[in-house]
Amino acid sequence: MSTATAAKPGLDTADLEQKVKEMYRDVARDPGGEFHFEMGRALAERLGYPPADLDRIPAAAIDSFAGVGYYFHLAQLKEGEAVVDLGSGSGMDSFVAALHVGATGKVLGVDMTEEQLEKSERLRAAAGFASVSYQKGYIERVPRADGTFDAVISNGVINLAPDKQQAFNEAARLLRRGGRLAIADIVTEAQLPDGVTEKADLWAACIGGAMQVDQYLEAIKRAGLRLETIQDNPQYRFISDNAKSAVRKWGVKSVSLLAVKA
Ligand SMILES: C[S@@+](CC[C@H](N)C(=O)[O-])C[C@H]1O[C@@H](n2cnc3c(N)ncnc32)[C@H](O)[C@@H]1O
Repeated sequence: MSTATAAKPGLDTADLEQKVKEMYRDVARDPGGEFHFEMGRALAERLGYPPADLDRIPAAAIDSFAGVGYYFHLAQLKEGEAVVDLGSGSGMDSFVAALHVGATGKVLGVDMTEEQLEKSERLRAAAGFASVSYQKGYIERVPRADGTFDAVISNGVINLAPDKQQAFNEAARLLRRGGRLAIADIVTEAQLPDGVTEKADLWAACIGGAMQVDQYLEAIKRAGLRLETIQDNPQYRFISDNAKSAVRKWGVKSVSLLAVKA
């Protein structure tokens, strides 16, 4: 395994998990609160989510949307497909995926934060999305058999994973041959210095864990996935002073990409 994609030796991963959970507990419970990143419907529309899709899913899931890009045009989900959403948050992307795969498809959302899970499941049950299910768990070890899914989707999550190679290996394991990984995430143009990558607070803020883009793509390739498309998402805005400074210094940015299991 490449050391560039594994957890940083100086990073306290238990502390990181705790900080990420606290942050996204608040995102689920109080989406109107103060956050260092944008959330909600205006963000989703600016990133490219069709308003007609957003009109058909629970509004409270959109309020807590904390993704970083649109990738459904790359995923090309089809009627009847099985999809897993890694780090499903309050559920918005899983609901959008359900619109694409229809009543004969299946969508599983996985997230480690209890409050996100509770919210997504409550909204799912109330809106009657029978093809969607949510399960508490880690994206690094999803309790499903090899090759179960036609597509793996994820939005703004892998940057938070201490071991990105493991996250991509797990995505590849879950996909059938020819299945697609379609994601949006935060990466960097230049390698972040250790002083940044070793701070759990900066990871939870979606900056400290962002990987240099060539290394990120190398990890995808090493997992057995072939990159088809990658695009920058300049519509995604960094709003905190820390994040803006990271954009200037290291080229922190949002990308959407599609990769296929060989
Ligand atoms: C930036 S939010 C994005 C949520 C959702 N994809 C969206 O677009 O709104 C990141 C989510 O990933 C979850 N998460 C982070 N690391 C995880 C891991 N290793 N396993 C499972 N969930 C994780 C967090 O709990 C949080 O809900």
